[in-house]
Amino acid sequence: TGLVTLDPGFANTAACRSEITYIDGEAGILRYRGYPIERLAEASTFVEVCHLLIHGELPTEQERDALSERLREHADIPDALRDLLNAFPRGAHPMTVLSSAVNTLAAFHADDCDPGDPAQVELATVLLLAKLPTIAAHIHRTSTGQAPVPPDDSLGYVENFLRMAFGPPSGGAGVDPLLSKAMDLLFVLHADHELNCSTATVRVVGSSQASLFASVSAGINALSGPLHGGANQAVLEMLEEIRRVDGDVDSFIKKVKDPDSRTRLMGFGHRVYKNFDPRSKEIKRLAQQILARQGSDELFDLALQLEEKALSDSYFVDRRLYPNVDFYTGLIYRAMGFPTDMFTVLFAIGRLPGWIAHWRELLADPDARIARPRQLYTGPNERDLPAGG
Ligand code: CMC
Repeated sequence: TGLVTLDPGFANTAACRSEITYIDGEAGILRYRGYPIERLAEASTFVEVCHLLIHGELPTEQERDALSERLREHADIPDALRDLLNAFPRGAHPMTVLSSAVNTLAAFHADDCDPGDPAQVELATVLLLAKLPTIAAHIHRTSTGQAPVPPDDSLGYVENFLRMAFGPPSGGAGVDPLLSKAMDLLFVLHADHELNCSTATVRVVGSSQASLFASVSAGINALSGPLHGGANQAVLEMLEEIRRVDGDVDSFIKKVKDPDSRTRLMGFGHRVYKNFDPRSKEIKRLAQQILARQGSDELFDLALQLEEKALSDSYFVDRRLYPNVDFYTGLIYRAMGFPTDMFTVLFAIGRLPGWIAHWRELLADPDARIARPRQLYTGPNERDLPAGG
């Protein structure tokens, strides 16, 4: 087989050079464009991080205001797209509707699909960032039987999203600042993670010179699986299942350790982190803060017990399995009022600038080639058709 090496899951293959995100999985370090995630979490908003990831630098005040303005300008979606979203069967998973809607943006913006035209790429970037929260909120409202709420161009990016999702707060109050700050922080923490499954997908699709809309739509589908972004939904379902069987955390851990049960502790383990995922530390703190407001939370208590038991159990210790970004996020989203099947959609909004930054980096990379891995063939040698066939 010559120089071809077998590398399932591309665990040992670097497919590109990248200047966007640095991860040291042994030390639990994550940086966007050189800035530690903890610092960005403290000091930067999601819109600023979008600029950082996509353009390489944090925006000046002027650049930030200009980007926010353009996002407001393009936030609304055409009525025909709303009709299309409404045509999905009730009960369709929001990730299915989201990826379809993003793919459909290529039809509504057919003149902004050419990867070779920098002005079109720039506009497609803004259109996606501006419209994804509107589409997501529309999906949430209609799938829960509520009338959609149009964007309000007097609000910031995240406030506007929360208002579209939950409706204008009663009594003329603004969007709860703690929730809006928490949502912004969660988006920042999800914004990029180098060549994870969905970002690798965006690059693979983009390498054929498919449009940004087509590539991001593919990324959303990759994100939907339970081993990737779908894990945030799976964690909550796991906690609910444990609660249903009397909160027996020990039996659940025993089941996970039984190789025949094929049960995983969802929200644990990572291909790259063999130490604490720095995002999960921030998210646990945030969960404590948000959930403290509503008094005790049974599912949060179960999650804390699971984490404590797993971190002192040799099965998890030996395999270096730690809580990942998805372990506590669902509890926060649930406390905010999102239904379980919307959790991965929230991950997608956060990850969007990362997908766009990688797609654009690929476009500018002189070494980029169409993604086309090889295989080791293990099927039959040449054979004759059965007699009489
Ligand atoms: N629970 C129980 N055992 C696990 C888990 C887990 N969550 N994760 C890994 N293992 C075991 C696995 O069974 C294997 O054991 P053995 O060597 O005895 O066969 C060993 O640890 C190595 O696992 P792997 O599947 O080879 O690791 P991977 O790098 O291919 O997979 C992963 C990484 C994230 C898919 C995996 O850890 C997993 O399935 N975790 C649960 C799902 C999850 O939380 N996904 C979110 C990932 S982080 C953010 C995101 O991408 O959304």
